[in-house]
Amino acid sequence: MNPTQGAASTLPSHVDPARVLDFDMFGLKAVDGEYQKAIYPYTRPGSPEIFWTRANGGHWVLTKADDIEFAMTNPKIFSASKMFVPREKNPNPPLTPLMIDPPDHAKYKAMMAPAFAPKSVQKLGEGARQIAIELIEGFKARGECEFIHEFAESLPIDVFMNMVDLPKSDKPMLMEIGEQHVRPLTPQHHIDSMTQLQAYALQKVKERRANPGDDLISHLTRCELNGKPLDDHALVGMVVLLLVAGLDTVAAAMGFFARFLAIEVGHRKQLIADPGLIPKAVEELMRRYAIATAGRILVQDHDFKGVAMKAGDMVIMPTVAVSFDESRFDDPLKVDFTRNASGHAAFSRGVHTCVGSMLARTELRIFMEEWLARIPEFRIKPGFELQISSGTVSGIRKLPLEWSVG
Ligand code: HEM
Repeated sequence: MNPTQGAASTLPSHVDPARVLDFDMFGLKAVDGEYQKAIYPYTRPGSPEIFWTRANGGHWVLTKADDIEFAMTNPKIFSASKMFVPREKNPNPPLTPLMIDPPDHAKYKAMMAPAFAPKSVQKLGEGARQIAIELIEGFKARGECEFIHEFAESLPIDVFMNMVDLPKSDKPMLMEIGEQHVRPLTPQHHIDSMTQLQAYALQKVKERRANPGDDLISHLTRCELNGKPLDDHALVGMVVLLLVAGLDTVAAAMGFFARFLAIEVGHRKQLIADPGLIPKAVEELMRRYAIATAGRILVQDHDFKGVAMKAGDMVIMPTVAVSFDESRFDDPLKVDFTRNASGHAAFSRGVHTCVGSMLARTELRIFMEEWLARIPEFRIKPGFELQISSGTVSGIRKLPLEWSVG
């Protein structure tokens, strides 16, 4: 059961019934083991470019690159103050700066920025490489692993815990709450996990106020907004965002990358022969396997290419729809490590462009470098049928891999 699935909503009078499709962003079924191919048909000619779904409270879905970029870069029409569907499920305190519009947005983002500057990311990357090597060496001799839990979820959480200086003993608890947040068994689990994350964040904020260090949370407690220190409410919004934005996203992307490399032997061999191609491969795989779906609320009525939208309407934008737009990318389903993939929107566009994108790219590059150097031949366990969880961040639930030992 999904936390946000609900009874189909009634159709608002301004929505043309010809523009209504059946689309539950939390209930998409994998096509060929992919979430992305479940989105693909909605981006094809013949499918309405802008459509409405009755699911999850009723909302618009944008499927064209130009339209998605317009919504992402025009916050006076498409506000980020509510970005999750159904509308009433948006967290309070708001995830900050993600759910803050300009002009205040820039002030909060500037507070976070030093932690994600190239020098800081380089340092985090060195730690990430060590962690990646230890994880791989830990299971290599076994000839198998469950990739999502044993590697993809573990690496980003360790990197993140270093960044904010959290005790290693909190890792199992954070992984469990994260799991409940992303793959809740009931709607209540989802709500409970957010409450737990907020309580955890508040506890850490209080600890760092009392005992500051040189980690990111301590830095944030020293920041000021309009001449005053940030209050607990704002700080909790920031710390919770870092917890949810930095962990599951990297894990989800890594899952799709590993699945691709396990299946596509030719591409894998290409990278083993020329590891210098890995940064371009990261970009191309981020394009082809974009996992995030952004959301906005209309704060004024808007005629969007002849489609009447009303203030209060919610809009969602699967970022992979940009990747599949043929006006941007030829043969968009094809993975080509030599193409220029930089026009994707996997990390969003506009003011909310992901502040952690350089760190994410670094973790993904390190995963490919260290994994392919140690386990060049591997496959998905035969007979295993992949299941995905689709939502704000879509991922693979389990990915059992195996390889020959000796
Ligand atoms: C593959 C990994 C990642 C993906 C695909 C991703 C994707 C995104 C997207 C799409 C947004 C903007 C959403 C919107 O416009 O509504 C975003 C924002 C953000 N991300 Fe990431 N992200 C990733 C990794 C990370 C990491 C590692 C961190 C930090 C540890 C992070 C922290 C943030 C923050 C703080 C924001 C808010 C930025 C703002 O509002 O200005 N992300 N991310």
